[in-house]
Amino acid sequence: QEDLFKNVISHAKEYGYIFASSEIYDGLSAVYDYGQNGAELKKNIREYWWKSMVQLNQNIVGIDASILMHPKTWVASGHVDAFNDPLIDNKDSKKRYRADVLVEDFAEKLLQKAQKEIDKAKKRFGDSFDEEQFVATNDRVGKYLTQRKDILKRLGDSLTREDLKDVKALIEELEIADPETGSKNWTDVRQFNLMFGTKMGASAETSSDLYLRPETAQGIFVNFSNVQKTGRMKIPFGIAQTGKAFRNEIVARQFIFRMREFEQMEMQFFVRPGDEMKWYEHWKEERIKWHYSLNLGVENYRFHDHDKLAHYANAAADIEFDFPFGFKELEGIHSRTDFDLKAHEEHSGKKLRFFDPELNETYVPYVIETSIGLDRMFLAVLSSSLKEETLKDGSSRTVLKLPAVLAPTKAAILPLVKKDGLPELARTIIEELQWDFRVQYDEKDAIGRRYRRQDAAGTPLCITVDHDSLEDNEVTVRYRDSMEQKRVPISELKKIIEEEVNF
Ligand code: GAP
Repeated sequence: QEDLFKNVISHAKEYGYIFASSEIYDGLSAVYDYGQNGAELKKNIREYWWKSMVQLNQNIVGIDASILMHPKTWVASGHVDAFNDPLIDNKDSKKRYRADVLVEDFAEKLLQKAQKEIDKAKKRFGDSFDEEQFVATNDRVGKYLTQRKDILKRLGDSLTREDLKDVKALIEELEIADPETGSKNWTDVRQFNLMFGTKMGASAETSSDLYLRPETAQGIFVNFSNVQKTGRMKIPFGIAQTGKAFRNEIVARQFIFRMREFEQMEMQFFVRPGDEMKWYEHWKEERIKWHYSLNLGVENYRFHDHDKLAHYANAAADIEFDFPFGFKELEGIHSRTDFDLKAHEEHSGKKLRFFDPELNETYVPYVIETSIGLDRMFLAVLSSSLKEETLKDGSSRTVLKLPAVLAPTKAAILPLVKKDGLPELARTIIEELQWDFRVQYDEKDAIGRRYRRQDAAGTPLCITVDHDSLEDNEVTVRYRDSMEQKRVPISELKKIIEEEVNF
């Protein structure tokens, strides 16, 4: 698993998908740049989401709100008061950690210990091994698992309170040490706000403090009435948006999984009060269908329903994905009640309501939100697509089996040799196709090497121009996944690519 993750990271760099930000200065922690292929893949994921939300739903419209917003926005949304992580410092090493993550890592180790015992027993007993029975009857494994459950429960309870003394007590009781130095000399736990601050205006006296938005959702809430009135929208309806968000994450690890600058794709769906659970279920179903449609493997997804709810929600679930480091949150679906619109009414003094002609009633709508991290989706696509295959002849190949609809380059056009008019014919084909698809010319190296290079870059089709092509106006199409080849007329290429990469 760890190797797979390392492979994903190095492959992403080698094939122009992801670079560390400002790498020549040794990078900036938890900030990344998308390269020539990464930018295309990211754009294609964004478009795939936008199409399914905005183009295929008559009652959903898209907006593009700004990153900078009036500072009162974040008071109303609760972010100034409640968007915090609990931090703890080690007094000896002066290193800073997220207190909850220290405890969670400790709990994770108990799980690993239990798993080790299970694996050992599995080996010993072979086919006759009954895991459930083993876990139920083995004292040591039982102890690990119970202790883990207790710790996580206590952590959850203590995090929901204002006072964080219990988290500190838990760290001391479990004798959790600084992972780097082993020291157990901790400060108290305190709240740290995750929003990035910035200043607007030229002079020190007149400038005002602003935040970079930590979620795109608030740009939708403050525009509720603008869109509803100008678009003459009737409830139920949705507003969708994609864009950058910023969080000063303390534990920034796992590559593009947790970044300080990232992109969200969010949709707020406004409904009648009382109808929210129906729509919550509806969007859970719609969103998982969207994921399944990409064929990354149904087994890679699971729902996690929340018991512990954020201050704004009355129901919430995550769609989790099996990343190279295990199942982790990819998307959130939240029933946010009328919390946000009401809070903005209070802080702005403006009404954010809807007159429902069917009910002859005016109300503040309830909201179901779907919120997915674009970069996380990128990582899900990339990590589940990277395969090392052994071929029939015993050789191996690295292939990036990206869904064709998302692939940066749809087809590579390859002249068999660099002479005899083949490059010219290849270029004519490109000029025709490039209006509809991103296609790429490649003439360097033997044809086999070129196929492998395109496999690793994720290109679904290779189109080879040979000497016969000059006579019969046909070319060879090679499919990335099956490696099958077939001879087709040049005039049919557009149709063939379209079939392969269709939405
Ligand atoms: N408007 C609701 C909201 O922002 P969230 O659970 O905090 O909810 C939604 O974030 C999604 O944004 C997450 O499921 C995740 O995919 C993505 N996300 C959140 N923080 C992130 C980070 N630091 N780096 C990358 N993606 C992140």
